[in-house]
Amino acid sequence: MTTTTPRPIRAQDRELPHPPYRLPVLGDVWDLHVTDSSQWGMRGAQKFGGIYERNIFGARVTYVSDPDLLREINDDELWSKFLGVPIRDLRSVAGDGLFTAHNSEPNWAKAHAILAPSFTAAAMKGYHAAMQRCAGELVEHWTGRAGEWVDVPSDTNKVALEVIGRTGFGYEFESFIRTDPHPVVSAMLRALTYINRSAYSHPLIERTVFRQQRAQHRADVAMVNETIDEVIARRRREGAGEHSDLLDRMLTAADPETGELLDEKNIRHQILTFLAAGHETSAGVMAFALHYLSRHPEIAEQARTEIAQVWTGDELEVEQVAKLRYVRRIVDESLRLWPTAPGYFRKARANTILGGQYPFEKNEWVFVVLLQLHRHELWGGDPETFNPDRFLPDRVRARHPELYRPFGVGMRACIGRQFAYHEIVLVLATILRNFDLTADPGYELKVKETITLKPDGLRLKMSRRQD
Ligand code: HEM
Repeated sequence: MTTTTPRPIRAQDRELPHPPYRLPVLGDVWDLHVTDSSQWGMRGAQKFGGIYERNIFGARVTYVSDPDLLREINDDELWSKFLGVPIRDLRSVAGDGLFTAHNSEPNWAKAHAILAPSFTAAAMKGYHAAMQRCAGELVEHWTGRAGEWVDVPSDTNKVALEVIGRTGFGYEFESFIRTDPHPVVSAMLRALTYINRSAYSHPLIERTVFRQQRAQHRADVAMVNETIDEVIARRRREGAGEHSDLLDRMLTAADPETGELLDEKNIRHQILTFLAAGHETSAGVMAFALHYLSRHPEIAEQARTEIAQVWTGDELEVEQVAKLRYVRRIVDESLRLWPTAPGYFRKARANTILGGQYPFEKNEWVFVVLLQLHRHELWGGDPETFNPDRFLPDRVRARHPELYRPFGVGMRACIGRQFAYHEIVLVLATILRNFDLTADPGYELKVKETITLKPDGLRLKMSRRQD
């Protein structure tokens, strides 16, 4: 009897579609887009298919949007979270916070165990009133601007920032009072923009050409750290345990496994993580949803009918939020077209042959292109059409299980998912109940990428409804 030795799995044997005109040494570098890299990743997938690659100076970047391949890639037994370049660079701000921790860092498991109870559906009770107050401030702000164009992404950013500041660590950024953004917010946004811009740059270029920007970046990070450390110190002085926010939990709750508390520096990293991960993502979804609602008055009306049926008293009650099923479908459909975290990275846990066809060596990684996955042909022939009914329960049940992943996958999926839905549904319902939306007829949707996505330059007129 003869035995055959299995062929070794070698990255060099992997052949994937790629842009034409690949150059020696430089690879496909001419085809790199740094300012709209996710939309470019999507366009590449539309040309080259559900798996393709770009080679940048010898480094291979594999883009995947084929739902069948994602059955393997999204399986934590086979693949796991990878900190791709922009995320790894975020560690200069968020250190070993939940989002930027490596899988093996003990602080990830500890913080996850301590914080998970703060993100359950039941935990939303503790944040609901603060979310309502923030939505109320937005209504007041827009009521005073009747007949004017309002800068939608800027204002949804304000509301999401206030929500995370107050529910996270009892901090008011006074976004609706200030004429200029809070200095911490400006520093944070500059830091994120710097990280996104410099992600594919060379350290020497940063030290020379971008010397001033780099110095500003360091000053920004130091200032943000100092402010957060002062917030934590003040809470300690005042006595932790009196507030129902994330900071109290981080200061007082122990890891059920080890009995250990989070250390001081890690708490700062978690706060910065929540600020970065839980602010622009939610704000972007609100802004995209408002864009589509302004273009589809019939969808806005259907939502208002539901809101009138569910929201019967003066205040929207916490249990009523989950009953706004149609508004939730609007949120899901906005996240389908524009997943504000537009992709995630996964690395192979062992040598593997993906889809029985593509050899990947252990620790090689891919980028999951959500923008294209969410436009895959399995969604039907009209993927660009905004249609919340795609999320009717029967259609969700019949769907390929990997076709919709705006919150990532597995053990490193978004811990804030429930929080984000509660907040966004509450804010959209409050806006729709209070305002009619008028679109700017000259506006064409243009999507801006920082690390997240937002509708660039979107402005609407908000007229107070008389009922
Ligand atoms: C619609 C809004 C949001 C979207 C689209 C979103 C999306 C995501 C995605 C795709 C990931 C996985 C990233 C990866 O695999 O590398 C993630 C992780 C995470 N998100 Fe969100 N997110 C949203 C809102 C929030 C909010 C409101 C918070 C906090 C209040 C939050 C906190 C986090 C954290 C801490 C992680 C890391 C979890 C871990 O690795 O253990 N997110 N999010």
